[in-house]
Amino acid sequence: MKILVTGGAGYVGSIVVEELLKEGYSVVVLDNLQQGHRQAVLEGAQFIQADIRRKESLEKIFGEERIDAVMHMAAETAVEDSMANPKRCFGTNIVGGANLLDGMLNHNVSKLIFSSSAAVYGEPQAVPIEEDHPTNPVNAYGESKLIFEHILKWYGKAYGLGYISLRYFNAAGATRFLGEDHHPETHLIPNVLKVALQKNSSVPIFGIDYPTRDGSCIRDYVHIVDIAKAHILALQSIEKLSGRVYNLGNGEGYSVLEVVGIARQVLGVDLPIKVYPRRLGDPPVLVASSSRAREELDWEPRFPQLETIIESAWKWMKEHPNGYGQ
Ligand code: UFG
Repeated sequence: MKILVTGGAGYVGSIVVEELLKEGYSVVVLDNLQQGHRQAVLEGAQFIQADIRRKESLEKIFGEERIDAVMHMAAETAVEDSMANPKRCFGTNIVGGANLLDGMLNHNVSKLIFSSSAAVYGEPQAVPIEEDHPTNPVNAYGESKLIFEHILKWYGKAYGLGYISLRYFNAAGATRFLGEDHHPETHLIPNVLKVALQKNSSVPIFGIDYPTRDGSCIRDYVHIVDIAKAHILALQSIEKLSGRVYNLGNGEGYSVLEVVGIARQVLGVDLPIKVYPRRLGDPPVLVASSSRAREELDWEPRFPQLETIIESAWKWMKEHPNGYGQ
């Protein structure tokens, strides 16, 4: 079975590719390398540098490759940037996404696993968040993911598109070969580790005045390999479960300050912090209920411990102090 992975040179995408290859799938990676890294595409996958905003590139790929299913991860993912520049976020995540769907329909590709986000919920009214919790995004990024989920629903009804949306909570950790390398890095765990590597002098803490137990934001960190596995399980069940939405998280929330504390223990180093004002668009608490994914997809996270997640990220970062390099 041949899978097209859009954004397959990015953090989540590259590790989805690694898992797909391990399971014997044939993989084509599409990535514009704006955020992704050519070095993150493992040997064994075919790489095509292309942009989902260009319809003709998609037409060419679907025309030339016999794609059976798509895993769609190509997106603008920086939450803060989506607030400053919603045009770019919507241009890629909605218009680019619709281009991808057009390409699929034109070439009779009818299976899609979509990389959605906990950001669709906004500020939760109840925690842990279940999939039927109201969706009310507080940032343009979350809005773009929600709009695309809605587009999928109508394409499913009208054109018989088979799809499953996976709402990731906070993807973190690394495999032996692949890890997280964003420019600029906005995510908490890599920013903590950069202080341990002495690349930065302190961990920026964005807000300690939230209505949480210690004033910093609470998140549900989930190992990237567990996220990747969920994609494969979703694909394997798509005929039966098309149209379903699944949360991917561990159901346990850690505050930003707690993450720094656990990292101190795991790494055995002091990690100075520096408090800054709140970042735009950050909900105070995001913690998943993933019982639907466990029951319907048979998803069982293998690495639910935050310590293990941080250790894996640290191991990769120590071996790749400059990320993937230039
Ligand atoms: N944070 C810091 N310092 C940092 C980086 C982050 O204090 O250096 C804080 C953030 O303000 C936030 C928490 O740590 O409260 C987690 O931030 P991340 O940037 O690591 O992750 P987000 O929760 O903002 O975003 C992640 C994904 C998004 C997804 C979102 C769901 O990266 O794609 O979860 O809201 F949309």
